[in-house]
Amino acid sequence: MKKTIDEHAERFSELASSYDDEQDSREYLACADLVVEHAAPGPEDVVLDLGTGTGAIALALASTAERVIGRDISGGMLDEARSKAEAGGIENVEFGEGSFREPNYDGPVNIVTSNFAMHHLSDDEKREAIAVIADLNPRRFVLGDVMFFGAPDPDEPFYSPEVDDPATVGTLVDALTDEGFALTAVERVHDQVGVLVAERFGDASERVDVATETGSDATDADTNGNGTDTDSNGGDTDANSTDTDSNGSDTDASEE
Ligand SMILES: C[S@@+](CC[C@H](N)C(=O)[O-])C[C@H]1O[C@@H](n2cnc3c(N)ncnc32)[C@H](O)[C@@H]1O
Repeated sequence: MKKTIDEHAERFSELASSYDDEQDSREYLACADLVVEHAAPGPEDVVLDLGTGTGAIALALASTAERVIGRDISGGMLDEARSKAEAGGIENVEFGEGSFREPNYDGPVNIVTSNFAMHHLSDDEKREAIAVIADLNPRRFVLGDVMFFGAPDPDEPFYSPEVDDPATVGTLVDALTDEGFALTAVERVHDQVGVLVAERFGDASERVDVATETGSDATDADTNGNGTDTDSNGGDTDANSTDTDSNGSDTDASEE
């Protein structure tokens, strides 16, 4: 993590009131749409949305889920999310403070989602977060984020190196499979933006902790990030992402 949790929280609280207006890049919108589409909760599903921000994903899923829990570290972003829920009369969503590694929620969860948020963690922290998510025992985890499908083009950054720390797709896939998830879809929205759909099969009570059972200690293999079956129908792979203020990956570090 290139900034502390408190620094990220403060930065996002400062951005909160204008955040939604700035999320107009094709990549962010395609990524958010794909996360919602792949999450696909049914009427009995409880969804946990981590790094929920102003609730873009959580509020979109509330119409089909039984309940959605949104967690974020930024009070300002959460206030925006709550205002939107109230304005929309959405009552089956609850927003509160919580982080990836300490979601502050221990109820049942069927589906976990996260969009454009996990890239704030270091790769080791992402691994810890994925282990925490696995312990919640969801059947599906849908991760949309800045992630590298190959070597990132330095002239077309989709993230801000001062504050963001995206992983390669390979690193994320390793972390997910080490926790017993199978990758059922990989959507490449852009060379640096994608959606991973990770699922675990069988009854929650029957699942084993693969990392514990096998003593797995996988390293970051496939560091070029392209060892997965990419499906590039999720967006515009040629999209111009040089407008680094509007891509949802908080590349506007000017307030730093
Ligand atoms: C770019 S916004 C994305 C918000 C929302 N998911 C969306 O799709 O619009 C990133 C969010 O991640 C949150 N965040 C950053 N680090 C976090 C952490 N360690 N745990 C939980 N949320 C975090 C920030 O506060 C911010 O609201």
